[in-house]
Amino acid sequence: MVQITYVDAAGTPRSVQGEIGSTVMETAIRNNVPGIDAECGGACACATCHVYVDPEWEAAVGPAEPMEQDMLDFASDVRPNSRLSCQIRVKPELDGLKVTTPRQQG
Ligand code: FES
Repeated sequence: MVQITYVDAAGTPRSVQGEIGSTVMETAIRNNVPGIDAECGGACACATCHVYVDPEWEAAVGPAEPMEQDMLDFASDVRPNSRLSCQIRVKPELDGLKVTTPRQQG
């Protein structure tokens, strides 16, 4: 298990345990972390699992694949550190990972 911290748009952090091999999106859903809807269930087809990777963690997480990059175009307020959390696989090197969830739309 690794620790993942989700910071909401208001700046409130919440740390949960993530299982190695699951995804940052699945970990959020399992722990009822708000701000990640994951409508497509992790198929990289909805962009409702959009998160911002903390700058300190960008290198460890790595860049988005081209397919993810295309889907990110559908997210709002996309920034250079935007990722789809269903495409971030939890691994030991990500222990302590911090991501921020976007402001809720509508
Ligand atoms: Fe749909 Fe990540 S859950 S793109």
